[in-house]
Amino acid sequence: MRPGGRYIDGTLGGGGHTEAILHHSAPNGQVLGLDADPAAIRRVTERLGQAITQRRLVLVHTAFERMASVAAEQAFAPVDGILLDLGLSSFQLETPERGFAFAHDGPLDMRFDPTQGESAADLLNRRSADEIANLIYEYGEERMSRRIARVIVDNRPIATTGQLAALVEKAVGGRKGQRIHPATRTFQALRIAVNDELGQLERVLEQALSLLAPGGRLAIISFHSLEDRIVKLWMREQSRDYVPDPTNIYGGRTQKPSVTVLTKRPLVASDEEMARNPRSRSAKLRIAEKC
Ligand SMILES: C[S@@+](CC[C@H](N)C(=O)[O-])C[C@H]1O[C@@H](n2cnc3c(N)ncnc32)[C@H](O)[C@@H]1O
Repeated sequence: MRPGGRYIDGTLGGGGHTEAILHHSAPNGQVLGLDADPAAIRRVTERLGQAITQRRLVLVHTAFERMASVAAEQAFAPVDGILLDLGLSSFQLETPERGFAFAHDGPLDMRFDPTQGESAADLLNRRSADEIANLIYEYGEERMSRRIARVIVDNRPIATTGQLAALVEKAVGGRKGQRIHPATRTFQALRIAVNDELGQLERVLEQALSLLAPGGRLAIISFHSLEDRIVKLWMREQSRDYVPDPTNIYGGRTQKPSVTVLTKRPLVASDEEMARNPRSRSAKLRIAEKC
């Protein structure tokens, strides 16, 4: 971070990272903050209003897959750094009306942007048992996906988080000796599907690279293995100077790497951080620097 630097926070959330970036790039560093959730934009507009007035912070309500066009509209490129802190915020998780948590009963929504697209309840009420099972298997890595999908379909319409959590518990036979709630993987899968989280991530990576100045850094914090794998493979691919040809053992081509990966292994939270913030347990941070 440098004074006068320009940064994009693609996942504004409560504005904690944006505030830190503004602090470390003072007195005149700038941040373009994006979030799909209009409530996040409203709250940070209030919380960091002074930085907006000083023209150091611009907030835009959008999914980060539109990062390149928003940066062009705002004449905000090239940039020194881009941050993606993926997934949902504590605020979303703890607001029952947003429908992300089985711990609080509420309408089964799960959209980061409640003004767009299909809610989790709509998805479960409209799709076939096979489609639901595949989605829970693929995005939740849930071995009992078929049984869960069957119970869901037999008990439609599904309306609330509590109803879904109880159905999953019934399908998988309770939670004896389990460390996590039996509905954890199903809820994760639905959230990923409703928000097209993996598609969004795949679509933003090239855009982020094109927006960075040489020496600029892309930092991505992921919370589950499906996202981390996309980030890891993309960074590996972009950092290669030789691409083998799988059809020819002597074949392949050299290329100029686009990035240097600064985290050979992902950075994880310290014990102290995990004690303070239990959700950081599964966080992995990977950083690449544009060549
Ligand atoms: C983990 S929170 C970010 C927390 C933030 N770094 C902070 O310091 O408070 C993730 C945020 O990203 C948003 N989000 C997730 N996927 C998004 C996407 N594809 N486009 C835009 N925002 C997204 C969510 O709405 C949520 O507010």
